[in-house]
Amino acid sequence: MTASGGTAGSIDLDRLAPDADRVASTIATLAAGFTESAEPGWTRRVFSDAYRASRGWTLALMRDAGLEAHLDPAGNVVGVLPGRNRSAPPLMTGSHTDTVHGGGRFDGIVGVVGAVEVARRLLESGQQLERDLVVVDFLGEEANPFGVSCVGSRSIAGLLDAEHLGRRDDEGRRLGDVMTTFGLDPGAALAQGWSPGSLHGYVELHVEQGPVLETAGTSIGVVTAIAGIERLFARFTGRADHAGTMPMDQRRDALAAAAAAVVAVEREGCGAPVHGVSTVGRFESSPGALNVVPDEARVWAEIRSTEAAWLTGARRRVVDAIGAEAERRGVTTVVDWLNDQDPVRADPLVQDLIGSSADSLGLRWQAVPSGAGHDAAHLAHLGPMGMIFIPSVGGRSHCPEELSQTDHVAEGVHVLAATLVAMDARSGAVTSA
Ligand code: GLV
Ligand code: MN
Ligand code: MN
Repeated sequence: MTASGGTAGSIDLDRLAPDADRVASTIATLAAGFTESAEPGWTRRVFSDAYRASRGWTLALMRDAGLEAHLDPAGNVVGVLPGRNRSAPPLMTGSHTDTVHGGGRFDGIVGVVGAVEVARRLLESGQQLERDLVVVDFLGEEANPFGVSCVGSRSIAGLLDAEHLGRRDDEGRRLGDVMTTFGLDPGAALAQGWSPGSLHGYVELHVEQGPVLETAGTSIGVVTAIAGIERLFARFTGRADHAGTMPMDQRRDALAAAAAAVVAVEREGCGAPVHGVSTVGRFESSPGALNVVPDEARVWAEIRSTEAAWLTGARRRVVDAIGAEAERRGVTTVVDWLNDQDPVRADPLVQDLIGSSADSLGLRWQAVPSGAGHDAAHLAHLGPMGMIFIPSVGGRSHCPEELSQTDHVAEGVHVLAATLVAMDARSGAVTSA
């Protein structure tokens, strides 16, 4: 595993080395015991029965590790490891344990189980931080049918608002009502936001979910920025006609226009001069009969980048391309945008502390942008934020095959511990801003 880490202040980093087998078996226990059995992969979607049952498991995990743990009104599982100075602004770490449909066992889960392991190792080794360490399993990080990701971290960051709670899923249910049915208190979830500056710092351990670290043979990724996400819905309206008799040049084929728009969306990401990706993740058309020219098509797409300027330009270019493809075929379009989050930079000093922590443990690291969204993007509103990535086998994620090797997970947990210790040792604000 990791090389000798020495001491940081009064804390001996070697004695914080995680129990790799315990971390691996805890991850396996969650996967085996709390998945939606009728769904593919390791599905555990927010508000599902499996997710509800797993909240009690996380609470018990934290309590068993020695944390003072509770469920907050937004459904976050929050555990506190008291520091020597209870009035100092605390450190926070954590992630999420919900998955996408057909998801894997590591996305988010490594950050929660790893954070609990750090707290456990502090207690087991008889060492105490100056500040409280708050460990959080945030509710519902993944995109959900209401179009509101990171429900729990938005609540803690004071970024959940009434408009979010009013959003409806395909069956017309409001997010706020579904939260109430799940036993939560949406009003209190809106009101509980911590104040900006209330955190000494936030660090999240996560799997990379892409191939960069594995390809380079690097153990640790120091995240430079979390991508902004722009999501669009486009409705194409044409005219239904007989597919055997209407000449090709007299059609108003909504599906053909939408299909050309799909390619235009893909082209936008392919040509990005900076970090940028674009994806059509959902496509529908009607009436869906082989012998009818389709009169309607619906497209859901997203564009992501760590560069705000490129994202703004891409948004405009995609709308122009959709309009042009529709017009060429006599089809009309309506495009609605839903901004999920703006790009967020990781704090430069926290990045430095993660890199030097990896150095002190003898681990190779490199700077990487995050194309995935994370709870950390919201926690950055409360204090300096950083993220630690570990390699994903084959770069695979959001699929059942998602895997990170136990050694890599353990190295990431050790770097998380060392980074938290380094942040704790800084008396002033952990920021270079
Ligand atoms: C979350 O995993 C996202 O990036 O969509
Ligand atoms: Mn995640
Ligand atoms: Mn995810």
